Amino acid sequence: MSSIHRAVLRQAEATPESRLPPGIQPLPRPPAMGRAVELAFLRWEKRDLVSTENFWRDFGLHIVSRSADALVARGTGTSACISIATKGRVNRFVGPAFRMSDGTDLERFVRDMGARPIPPDRIPGGGRGVELADPAGRSVWLLQGQTPVDALPVREPLVADMNTAFFAPRVNRTIRAPLEPAQVVRLGHVVMQTVDFPRLADWYQRVLAIIPTDVQYLADGSPALAFFRLDLGDQPADHHTVVIVGGIEEKYEHSAYEVVDLDALGQGQQVLRAQGHRHMWGIGRHVLGSQLFDYWIDPDGFEYEHYTDGDLFTADFETAYSPLEFGGIWAWGDDAPASMKPRKTVGTLLRVLGLLRRKAITPQRLKLLGEALDAPARPWA
Ligand SMILES: [Fe+2]
Repeated sequence: MSSIHRAVLRQAEATPESRLPPGIQPLPRPPAMGRAVELAFLRWEKRDLVSTENFWRDFGLHIVSRSADALVARGTGTSACISIATKGRVNRFVGPAFRMSDGTDLERFVRDMGARPIPPDRIPGGGRGVELADPAGRSVWLLQGQTPVDALPVREPLVADMNTAFFAPRVNRTIRAPLEPAQVVRLGHVVMQTVDFPRLADWYQRVLAIIPTDVQYLADGSPALAFFRLDLGDQPADHHTVVIVGGIEEKYEHSAYEVVDLDALGQGQQVLRAQGHRHMWGIGRHVLGSQLFDYWIDPDGFEYEHYTDGDLFTADFETAYSPLEFGGIWAWGDDAPASMKPRKTVGTLLRVLGLLRRKAITPQRLKLLGEALDAPARPWA
């Protein structure tokens, strides 16, 4: 018998913050000015609202209103709006809007950070709010007093009726998930890349009181990626609502939308494929956050994620640290596409040279980031 090469699979281990070895730097936790209780909606500027609307419908969003200048969509949950696109000259992610706790003093952001009141007629779902610019120049809305709407009907999850080797409730019955767009229940999270990771992580923690659930560090022990959850006290919050990724540009990475269950994810994929949309990655399961995921690309190149079965944590759960590795993004499923990494093009090279010249990034950090992304993800990948 010939000898067979046995490839070794491994998974990076996470370390709780209280047991961090000396070489790994904890992520600084600044005092917060307010507390976010929900990622309310995302704002977009789009040249073509019709193609955006078609994608949103096939992706499982519900269109609330549409005019020549604006498109508003919701999920089946109780938020009046989870996404707004206004007609503009460029296609861009304008920024996120957060619902803040009743105890948050919005005036403080006006006094201390130069926030500006938002005209109430611009806020879908009503209420009041202020607008801030984050360090990357994105417009961030902080809102209070939104009126919840009635939830839309959505089918029951099929999970409770799932047969396993040890528990089989489904006898003389079948499982038939409807072939329809994956009904989006709510907006889950937004991921943003930045050149200045410490600065953006500090800013969002200060403004929103978000808690790092998982932090990933480079080989020199410096944090370079953080998954933040909302501080909802004893109430469970998603593993992450905001993710900040250190990289080589200021960029929207993706936003994620919770669907009813795995069968919705699968049937929704078939609908999006049938309508000719661009599939990106999935179905698979993430490691940090544990979600079952499926990634799509909208007509203007922006990434959207369907997910289900994510982890939940209360505010007291300890922050964990793990090494940043490309292969650590997914537990199983399709291999992550190369498009998730910076393309090795002349454009990328020029951008990197510009960053080095401006001293926005050190050669050492760039090298460590490159090593983290280029480490072989799987023996076959
Ligand atoms: Fe995600």
